[in-house]
Amino acid sequence: MPTVPKPISFTKDEGFFELSKNTVFSGVAKGMGGLFSYLGLASGVENRLTAVIDDGKQDEEYMLQVSPGEIKIIGGERGIYYGVMTLLQLAAKNLKDGIANIPVCKIDDRPKYAYRGFMLDVSRHFFPPSTIKKILDVLSVLKINYFHLHISDNQGYRLESKEFPKLNEIGSVRAGTRGDGKEVKGYYTAAEIEEMVGYALERRIEIIPELDIPGHTIALLASYPYLGCEGKEMKVAETFGISDNILCAGKESTYEFLYKLVDEIASYFPSKYFHLGGDEAPKTKWKNCPHCKKALIDNNLKSFSELQSHFINKIIERLEQKGKTVIVWNEAIYGGLLKDGAICQYWSDGKKPRRVFAAADGGRKTIISKFSPYYLDYPYGMTPLKKTYNFDPEMDGFTSEGLKNIMGVEAPLWTEYVDTEEKLFYQMLPRLMAVAESGWGSAKDYTDFKVRLESLRPLFAMMGIKMPSLGECDPGPIKGAIATVKFFINAFDRSMINSSINAIKAQSERRR
Ligand code: ACM
Ligand code: ZN
Repeated sequence: MPTVPKPISFTKDEGFFELSKNTVFSGVAKGMGGLFSYLGLASGVENRLTAVIDDGKQDEEYMLQVSPGEIKIIGGERGIYYGVMTLLQLAAKNLKDGIANIPVCKIDDRPKYAYRGFMLDVSRHFFPPSTIKKILDVLSVLKINYFHLHISDNQGYRLESKEFPKLNEIGSVRAGTRGDGKEVKGYYTAAEIEEMVGYALERRIEIIPELDIPGHTIALLASYPYLGCEGKEMKVAETFGISDNILCAGKESTYEFLYKLVDEIASYFPSKYFHLGGDEAPKTKWKNCPHCKKALIDNNLKSFSELQSHFINKIIERLEQKGKTVIVWNEAIYGGLLKDGAICQYWSDGKKPRRVFAAADGGRKTIISKFSPYYLDYPYGMTPLKKTYNFDPEMDGFTSEGLKNIMGVEAPLWTEYVDTEEKLFYQMLPRLMAVAESGWGSAKDYTDFKVRLESLRPLFAMMGIKMPSLGECDPGPIKGAIATVKFFINAFDRSMINSSINAIKAQSERRR
């Protein structure tokens, strides 16, 4: 069955349904014919696709039945959309002279995990709404239902702010990148955000904003220096890596700022989720700050890691009042006091992520984004397609109780070294297809996956997306090692020495 993710159950029979410009989309699929516009369908016989909601099915479940005269989709509301996406893949694969001969078949399908995500970092490099829409089209084809937008980091803040205009005047602009002197700037206006959110919802995707705090915040500190422990002026970062310039957790003014900012961001994004980051926050400045030291005493806290829990909990409480559930990167659970309802996104926690396992075993919901198989910014030499495909999110170490708390999977794409739309899609596809399959729970068979992946190449080409060849995706050990070494040589500069020191500091704090 040439679709990705592979359906749970599929049977094929003799004959075809001729999908053309004259196929009538009816029932709840009315209006969805427009989703086939990439195919340039020609005129053909009049026939019908009918979709009906079945309250007995789960929201994301569907049954697709193709017979020569009719196509029927029965399912939950989202399930019907997924049935149409399965059909789009089949149509693209079987397209000839503007007519798609869809084989007679019956498919019963539903995802394993409720959460299947992709993250894009728009801080390190900014991508216009047109690219975001193209990404959303790809996500919907792959039945990925969450798009996590990393909107703020040391290198830029990317949303219009009416509350704090300097986040745009100062925080959305950097003078250059690693000494190239080329300005990088941009942010999404309120109108653009509204349009992107609506476009995503039409495709059954929620956009989750991430305001990464208290670390990765130089764009905020450059705009409003009073947010830092020392109140020092600084510029939006032009180099990468981990900085120890983080938000002050002791001053009330930081919380007042953050309450207003998360209120504004939440007003743009209706998603039930809100990401607060929490990764890579060395506490060097906190240890020397009278406000932070006082906050430790006033709140009976034993360590600066506990202060991080306290800090993030205050913002979580604000967001919970708005009905939001907060997601954090795994470092944010290390303080030990993080509120129970917050979700842990696992990316890196030493060789064996014991704290992540323990949190899941103790009831904390968890999203799996382990960096070595799922970080799409790494070169194929380091993270070949096969590695991404074969990774099992149900890692050894989770107990049966912990496994129940895996919500799903997400692949992040950080963009320090991704500055064009072409490079973005090169890194993203086809590896995201492998992640989509793990999230859907398709039975694993790499050879079969590669055949199905190839059959989707024409659809992505029609969408204006070029994927690397399978040879590039699995380069083998020698070419792989060369690509990996090149990647790290390019990434290494003076700022990386500081970054490595800060990483060690953050690491040693978390082990306390
Ligand atoms: C991360 O990669 N620092 C979440
Ligand atoms: Zn401070």
